[in-house]
Amino acid sequence: MFYWALASIVFARVVFSLYKYYSSPLRDIPGPLLARITSFWYFFKVYRGCFEKENIELHRKYGKIVRIAPNEFSIDDPDAVKIIYGRSTEFPKADWYYGWTNPMQKNELLFTTQSISYHTAQRRKYAASYSMSTLMGYEGFVDECGRILSQRFEELSGSNLVINLGEWMLYYALDVIGAITFSKRFGFLNAGEDMGGLIEANENRRMYATLAGIYPSLHPLLFRIVSYLPSSGAASLQYLFKFANERIRERKVRLGTEADDGPMDQVGRFLTAHNERPDYFTAQDVLMGSLANILAGSDTIAISLSAILHYLCTHLEKMQKLRDEIDGMAKRGQVSDPVTLKETQAMPYLQAVIKESLRLHPATGLILARKVPKGGATISGEFFPEGATVGINTWVAHYNRDIFGPDARFFRPERWIESDEKTLSVMEQYNFPFGLGSRGCMGKNISLLEIGKVIPQLVCRFDFELEEPQKELHCLNYWFVKQTDLRCRLSIRR
Ligand code: HEM
Repeated sequence: MFYWALASIVFARVVFSLYKYYSSPLRDIPGPLLARITSFWYFFKVYRGCFEKENIELHRKYGKIVRIAPNEFSIDDPDAVKIIYGRSTEFPKADWYYGWTNPMQKNELLFTTQSISYHTAQRRKYAASYSMSTLMGYEGFVDECGRILSQRFEELSGSNLVINLGEWMLYYALDVIGAITFSKRFGFLNAGEDMGGLIEANENRRMYATLAGIYPSLHPLLFRIVSYLPSSGAASLQYLFKFANERIRERKVRLGTEADDGPMDQVGRFLTAHNERPDYFTAQDVLMGSLANILAGSDTIAISLSAILHYLCTHLEKMQKLRDEIDGMAKRGQVSDPVTLKETQAMPYLQAVIKESLRLHPATGLILARKVPKGGATISGEFFPEGATVGINTWVAHYNRDIFGPDARFFRPERWIESDEKTLSVMEQYNFPFGLGSRGCMGKNISLLEIGKVIPQLVCRFDFELEEPQKELHCLNYWFVKQTDLRCRLSIRR
């Protein structure tokens, strides 16, 4: 009886999906057969953890628009950028982002909210804390973490010990974000391990949200069920909230005391704003702002740093070119110790290396999904009705051969230096590791500060010998495309 009931439900579901597919004005859009009738195809592909590569192949096979689920479409077209992400258009974030929220609470992160008006109001509240001028005050925090990282690498050098460089980049990124956010490092660099399970919690959370977001209507029920499991995505989110709350409590105690004499960190700013206007900048805003930094500002930086070092280690002539640039400037007395942000901005090859690495390995690996607003929209010559989900995956854009040339998949920082103005402008417009438009990354300036300062320091002081230089780097894509086995030996550069 049970099996008959189950079979009838499945049958009814398939018939309904087929009816929806054949009656849809978008039925001619190409894509894998199963993706026409069920989101399970997309779920399964994402679950496998390498969708960024599959997404590139799908576009090579099917063209500019590819169906990845019954009402979800991946786009590869520079002309679509302005339509979907332009500041004048109003494409809200798609339902996939709901998977990142706690359905039992009303608090939303800037990153997850689907409401355009709420987002605009919230973003305004935080904007000053991420501005370029505020950033200069954070340089000392970055210097301190860079110094400790170098110290730890010196200890690990020459011991023939193989380290996971990706993990160390994450310890560095977490300590910097701790310092910038709470003016207190979390202590990962000292511990050299996942203290208190924060990294694991963040990973569980990311995997859950990435997959649950594909079935947003199931998320409230699923979240409740898995919250009883100790290391589930739901339990991990609760742990992350607790962690952020504790750090805020500690920060409150120091605020305005004699011990609080350094540069103002972000939570210090948030708390001051809250104390001045508690109804406007609420306690919830303080919590969500600090949590956003921990969630968005650690793995992304670690992934980017790992990508840069990996590309340099597998392209030793480029590594040499970078070292020559830095050494040359140092000989001319143009480099301080530690190097300043301003000095790094005067290093064209360093900037090209960073840009090229983030092009070839952007941190996010799924489409930046948006919902077509009221009235529908024409994208790449196709009319999409209201409610369809569309988006561009940074990996797909960055590997587009029409934009970046036949050598699009190769690491060639020179393309950012030698290309003519027109080519450069075309490439710039389709290179967006930090996202686009009003929902673009809040932490872009902080990221470039952290990355720009630590790379010269590391490549000038250390040699990195990859354990398996010929092996393709293994990554897992649960929203962030994280390297899992960047293993190397360190030695001090003579
Ligand atoms: C190399 C490092 C980073 C990369 C590649 C990166 C990338 C991105 C991307 C692609 C988005 C847009 C996501 C979307 O459209 O759904 C985004 C949003 C965001 N990022 Fe980053 N990010 C980085 C570092 C950071 C840091 C360090 C912080 C904070 C300190 C941060 C905070 C945010 C926030 C708050 C948003 C949401 C913005 C909004 O919706 O208004 N990110 N980031």
